Amino acid sequence: MRVIIRDTYEMMSKWAANAVAEKIKKQEKTKPFVLGLPTGSTPQGVYRLWVEAKEKGLLSFSNVVTFNMDEYVGLSPDDENSYHVFMYRNLFDLVDIPKENVHILDGTAIDLEGECQAYESAITAAGGIALFLGGIGRDGHIAFNEPYTPFTSRTGVRTLTADTVAANARFFGNDEGRVPKRALSVGIGTVMDAGEVMILASGRNKAHAVWETVEGPISHKCPASVLQLHENVTLVCDGEAASELSKDAVRFFRETETA
Ligand code: GLP
Repeated sequence: MRVIIRDTYEMMSKWAANAVAEKIKKQEKTKPFVLGLPTGSTPQGVYRLWVEAKEKGLLSFSNVVTFNMDEYVGLSPDDENSYHVFMYRNLFDLVDIPKENVHILDGTAIDLEGECQAYESAITAAGGIALFLGGIGRDGHIAFNEPYTPFTSRTGVRTLTADTVAANARFFGNDEGRVPKRALSVGIGTVMDAGEVMILASGRNKAHAVWETVEGPISHKCPASVLQLHENVTLVCDGEAASELSKDAVRFFRETETA
């Protein structure tokens, strides 16, 4: 695992946005760059920087295919709180991605399991995910894979924990009762199959999850800790999110950091 620590949220967002943009630019024109994407507060800085780069003519999404991590069960794609609306407002409507290249799980599908299996098949048909960008929950969850979800899990229906419902209530007028209790989510195995994984972590409330991910034991208690076993993972943190890492770990990652 590589850990990049930048003092501020703006600096970590810039590092991550540039790193992914460079990979998109380097992609050969004959096949698309397949990118996994998260929602949440943390990736918004990266999305803003990509939109700016697109507006300046420095980045194009015309050859990018995306797969989002998750979606709430029961929210239609035009629901204000759906991850569909979040993604179109923060990124897809503002860049030149062909709409047919966008994939987001449908939380209103009649056959939810079938929807999840079709999603896995679509990822395989696209040639697999080259880079999965993700956030992290304060309990170490990735996508909606809560603690104790099997590391081998594939895309499926998940039940949210009370902690995640409480954390996400801020998007629902701070009303926990309005937060859906189930979601469709890529599995931990789906994320682990990506060629590369980049996780963004910002703020003091992510510091323990970051410590567990980097220095804790590999345990399904902290889903993100499985990333210790992936050969190409970058965890991009701001100073507060990195604040529980040991001095040894910080020194190692600073000394060995390469562009
Ligand atoms: C939700 C999402 C995750 C996200 C997490 C953290 O639970 N399903 O994909 O990583 O929230 O979100 P935030 O970046 O807002 O802290």
